[in-house]
Amino acid sequence: MSHMSDNNNRTDVTLVGLGSMGAELARAFIRAGHHTTVWNRTKEKGAALAVEGAVHELSIEDAVAASPLVITCLTTYEATLEALEPAVLEGRTLITLNSGTPSGARTMAAWAASRGADYLDGAVKNVPDAVGKPDTLLYYSGDKAVFDRYAETLRVLGGQTVHLGEEVDLAALYEYAVGGTLLPALLGFFQAAALVTGRGLPASSLVPYTVSWLEMIGSVLPSLAREIDAGDYGRPASSLGLFHEGIVYDEEMGREGGIDVSWHAPMHDLLRRAVAEGHAGDSISVLTELLRKPVAPPSPAPLG
Ligand SMILES: NC(=O)c1ccc[n+]([C@@H]2O[C@H](COP(=O)([O-])OP(=O)(O)OC[C@H]3O[C@@H](n4cnc5c(N)ncnc54)[C@H](OP(=O)(O)O)[C@@H]3O)[C@@H](O)[C@H]2O)c1
Repeated sequence: MSHMSDNNNRTDVTLVGLGSMGAELARAFIRAGHHTTVWNRTKEKGAALAVEGAVHELSIEDAVAASPLVITCLTTYEATLEALEPAVLEGRTLITLNSGTPSGARTMAAWAASRGADYLDGAVKNVPDAVGKPDTLLYYSGDKAVFDRYAETLRVLGGQTVHLGEEVDLAALYEYAVGGTLLPALLGFFQAAALVTGRGLPASSLVPYTVSWLEMIGSVLPSLAREIDAGDYGRPASSLGLFHEGIVYDEEMGREGGIDVSWHAPMHDLLRRAVAEGHAGDSISVLTELLRKPVAPPSPAPLG
């Protein structure tokens, strides 16, 4: 079994799944001079990568057999299990780079172990165009020795290549946890865009100011995290009460600007509950305590 290409000491890599993200991962390995084998369910995508320098295998068995390191980038863990099922994984290192739940990662890890493969779970925290750039972040979790063996190879995909820990589901956990900021932050921006475009001003006029605002938000995260980790919310830089008073302002701006602010409703509910529980004088970070206690879903209305 050849672990290295003949003409350099770079690890041979097999990339399974050539969607928008997988194709960019394969391109990064080709650019970096790795002997790159590719497989995709829809064969046209593999053929396109062959033109760019990859070896295109039509069967998953041959694709997996080609390299010691097999990286998958399919939509889900379920799709990954389905695609890999016929292949012999014994002695390979498998790294999955799809989004999914921590339990999905644990299932995948157990499956890889049952097939005699080393396994790391990973997640790409950026868009396909960013693959290979110095500040592109990728998480990995699982056996540190396996990570260390391939860290240099994995760095081809992004300069910020991070091992989160030995527990195999940490990449999936952090991917979801960190990713959770995206939709609320974007909705905030889209609300701003609706407001200013409603006044005939371009959304682009907001960008420098919104970017500064997001940087300010980033700058307060360390102290909020300290409060949460200490469970001490008593010396607030921003009190929950202040945010609670802002509810009226959201509603007024909605009416005045003629925009839909209904997406705030669950956040307003959370603030009201926190005030009702006596947290008005606490730091806004106390909301973490409420979020730790899931609210039971409303029971269905009785029929008839
Ligand atoms: N695109 C992004 O911006 C981005 C960013 C970060 C993370 N990700 C994550 O990366 C993963 C892939 O995303 P993507 O954007 O590359 O998706 P995509 O463009 O939709 O590609 C999906 C890939 O999965 C394959 N696939 C799906 N089900 C399959 C099955 N049952 N058997 C075999 N192959 C199967 C598809 O094969 P066919 O070509 O045959 O359909 C295709 O190669 C996802 O988990 C996504 O969350 C994506």
